Amino acid sequence: MCGIVGYIGKDQAVGILMEGLKRLEYRGYDSAGVAVLRGGEIDVVKARGKLDCLRRKLESTPLSGSVGIGHTRWATHGEPSDENSHPHLSQSGEVAVVHNGIIENYAPLREKLTAKGYRFQSETDTEVFAHLLEETLKTERDILGAVRATVRQLEGAYALGVLCTRFPDRILAARKDSPLIIGLGEGCNYIASDIPAVLPYTRRVYLLEEGEMAQVFADHVEIYDMEGEPVHKEVFEVTWSVDAAERGGYAHFMLKEIYDQGRAMRDTIRPRIKDGRIDLSEANLTDEMLRGVRRVVITACGTASYAGQVGRVLIEKLCRVPVEIDVASEFRYRDPVLDPEDLFVVVSQSGETADTLAALRLAHARGCKVLAITNVVGSTIAREADSVLYTWAGPEIAVASTKAYTTQVLMLTMIALHMALCKGTLEPARYDELLKELQRLPDKAEEILSDVTPVQRYAARFFSQEDMFFIGRGLDSALCMEASLKLKEISYIHSEAMAAGELKHGTIALIEPGRLVVALCTQGSTIEKLRSNIREVLTRGAVVLTIGYEDSDAEKELTEYRLTIPRTDDLLAPALAVIPAQLFAYYCAIQRGYDPDKPRNLAKSVTVE
Ligand code: M6R
Repeated sequence: MCGIVGYIGKDQAVGILMEGLKRLEYRGYDSAGVAVLRGGEIDVVKARGKLDCLRRKLESTPLSGSVGIGHTRWATHGEPSDENSHPHLSQSGEVAVVHNGIIENYAPLREKLTAKGYRFQSETDTEVFAHLLEETLKTERDILGAVRATVRQLEGAYALGVLCTRFPDRILAARKDSPLIIGLGEGCNYIASDIPAVLPYTRRVYLLEEGEMAQVFADHVEIYDMEGEPVHKEVFEVTWSVDAAERGGYAHFMLKEIYDQGRAMRDTIRPRIKDGRIDLSEANLTDEMLRGVRRVVITACGTASYAGQVGRVLIEKLCRVPVEIDVASEFRYRDPVLDPEDLFVVVSQSGETADTLAALRLAHARGCKVLAITNVVGSTIAREADSVLYTWAGPEIAVASTKAYTTQVLMLTMIALHMALCKGTLEPARYDELLKELQRLPDKAEEILSDVTPVQRYAARFFSQEDMFFIGRGLDSALCMEASLKLKEISYIHSEAMAAGELKHGTIALIEPGRLVVALCTQGSTIEKLRSNIREVLTRGAVVLTIGYEDSDAEKELTEYRLTIPRTDDLLAPALAVIPAQLFAYYCAIQRGYDPDKPRNLAKSVTVE
């Protein structure tokens, strides 16, 4: 996600901005830039790529001045590029802005400004703010009033840092739905999207609240509400270490990302629902095209392939078309039978996984059009695919994928629902019901996360096991694969995912007294069968932990170990039921003394075969 930093004082700004940006690198980004006020002008240097690219540019174009703003950009609107990087200048160059968040109404604003003669240099939503403020300043001489009038025209989320050549003694700041803080120095002050950016300089900060704006001078800070009334704020003293602050106070990135899932789910679902319908027009998936789909082929690796397994069940059930799924490392070498009419889908968090990319290229070579579901704008897979649906999970730093999985599952669910409606294989009333429930999932995810003590308790009880089994049927069977992988990769407990009905065909031989079997129990249509499978392992001495609905009593008679999720439609359960499984893996790793953020032998992005 994007990062903001700003400095006003007596020292050269650039070094301080670069240090601040470095401390925001953990958020993930694909380009960066800085702007510094010098005399009556604003100088800007920005570069696609890592901070080193920006640093090299700054060596050849040094910036001098003691007031500046900087930004690391994680692309949303427009590819990662020099032009799309922040800061953005207004037409005359008198305003520079850095922005986190998304300005949802940027398209009509851009149209209006273009009609007034403003020429845009980038594809970003942010640039509209710079021109809009310049336009407002033509009639509003007070900069604070002008910023207020400008942000009032914005819909969406923003944290803004603004420089204006007419007011060189201050940085303007404003926030709505995107965090922004002000760091208080001695004879200097800072703005930042996250506390770590200012921690080398100060531990005293103001935390801006929703709708608040600030004028940050070198020697003092003024904070106002949206009505222009001054706000008195208490100074917040930061007591965390830099490292902990980057993790937002969470013990590990993985835990932070597990807790970020409500937000990630909301950001993935919300923008795609328009007038009570799923709208995938961003990927050029026309209704006519989807009506004509006769077969879907999904390929991916690891967790992304397990999200694909959930997608397979949903698409077949709802759209009545066959779905083939394969891991990309096999797919690319097995000379697959492909038809150019297939809907070919690749799923990849990073968008850089070598095998998935090779599968995409193979599909292209066979004349197929490729739809990518990825989390990283401008990634190789996003660039090479014919159309892209982004999971707006935000940067995933922990090696063990969590919020990427849930958002991939949601994206595949939306494809299934939309295609089913287009094909007429789903009653409109059932579609409406599922769509409503889909939108309730983020709140339900947050409900699960509001009390993790049962998971901690069971992790403490079972962490010393050397083997575990995950069983389930239907969608639960698909989910078992992800639950099992999560446990393996961070706790190093061997585990196996089994379709519950398959157990008795061999694997049940491994069940011995005390062995833990985790049973996923969200699929009503097969729950009786699953209960029989649970009984089969119980009679052989296994201990069973179930993950099922909180209002389902059926498992109570079978086991005292139960993790629960709020009731939802069975078709939507994987996105919720995975959360206790993720937490269980996390707390088992902690109990065993391992660092879940640094699992042995694993890399976040597997760009080699
Ligand atoms: O970036 P991708 O989604 O393409 O990555 C695929 C796998 O490498 C990834 O999901 C891996 O399995 C994770 N470590 C799982 O937690």
